[in-house]
Amino acid sequence: MTTALITGASTGIGEKFAKELASRQTNLVLVARSQDKLDNLATELSSKYQIKTTVIAQDLTTTAARKAVFDTVQAQNITIDLLINNAGFGDYGAFSDRPLSKMMEMVQLNISAVVELTGLFLPLMQTRKDGAIINVSSIAAFQPIPYMSVYAASKAFILNFSEALWAENKDLGVRILAICPGPTESEFYDRADFPKSTTAFNTMTMASAEAVVKESLRALDKSQSTAVVGGFKNQIIVNLPRLMPRDLLVGVVGKQFKHI
Ligand SMILES: NC(=O)c1ccc[n+]([C@@H]2O[C@H](COP(=O)([O-])OP(=O)(O)OC[C@H]3O[C@@H](n4cnc5c(N)ncnc54)[C@H](OP(=O)(O)O)[C@@H]3O)[C@@H](O)[C@H]2O)c1
Repeated sequence: MTTALITGASTGIGEKFAKELASRQTNLVLVARSQDKLDNLATELSSKYQIKTTVIAQDLTTTAARKAVFDTVQAQNITIDLLINNAGFGDYGAFSDRPLSKMMEMVQLNISAVVELTGLFLPLMQTRKDGAIINVSSIAAFQPIPYMSVYAASKAFILNFSEALWAENKDLGVRILAICPGPTESEFYDRADFPKSTTAFNTMTMASAEAVVKESLRALDKSQSTAVVGGFKNQIIVNLPRLMPRDLLVGVVGKQFKHI
C-alpha cells in the first residue's frame, strides 16, 4: 500500500484529497493545525477503508514545525510516496492596509513550507527513483492580483518552482505536478475576508473540491507538469494574460478585485 502526506488536510481541497486517496486504498499522513478535525477525519477514513492514518498537528509557518513533520514520519518508518503541499491561505486588501505579520505568515506557509517540505522529502524519492509531489498553486499564479498581491505572487512562485522541478526530475522517476484550481468550494474565501461586493466574486463559478481533486489525480497519472483544474473557464482565464500588455492586464484585474 502507498502512503500520501497531505498538508492542510483538515478542510477544503486537502480534506477531499484525503477522502479520494483513502477510497483508492492509500495510507495517509494528515497535517494541519486543527488536531480535532484531523483526528475525526483519520478515524472516519481508517474505519471506512481499512487504511493506516497518522495525524501530525503542526502550524507549518515555522521551520521547526516542518522538521517535526519530517522527523515524525521518519521515526515511524513511513515511506511517503505522494507529498501534497496543499496548506495555504489568502488575504484580501491593499498590501499597505494589511498587517505585515500576516503577509509574512502567508509567505512562510504558501512558499517556505512548500520549498522546505519538498527539500526534505524529494531526496528520499530520488533515491528510491519513485514518488510524486503535488504542489497546490492557483489560477491566481498567471497574473498579478491587486488587493491579493502577496497571495497571487506566492502562487506564481509555486507554479514556477514546480515546473522547474518537474523538468529536473522527469527522468529520475519522481513526478512533480503543480495544480492550478480556479474558485473552489472550501473555507478559503471566508478565511481571506474576500468581499462579496467585488466583480471578481460575483463572476466566479465555484468548482467542487471533489472535482478538483479527481482532475488533479488524473493529471498526475499522465505525469503532467501543470494542470489548470476546475472547469473550462479557468483555461481561458490563464491564457488571456499572454495576449495583453502587462499594465493593461493588471489594471483590468485591479478593477475586478477592487472593493466597491
Ligand atoms: N478555494 C479556492 O478557490 C482555491 C483556488 C486555488 C487555489 N487554492 C489553494 O488550495 C489550497 C487549499 O485551500 P482550500 O481552498 O482548501 O482552503 P481551506 O478550506 O481554507 O483549507 C486550508 C487548509 O490549510 C490549513 N492551514 C492553514 N494555515 C495553516 C498553517 N499555518 N499550518 C498548517 N496548515 C494550515 C487549514 O487547516 P487548519 O486551519 O486546521 O490549520 C486547512 O486544512 C491553498 O493552498 C489555496 O491557496 C484554493
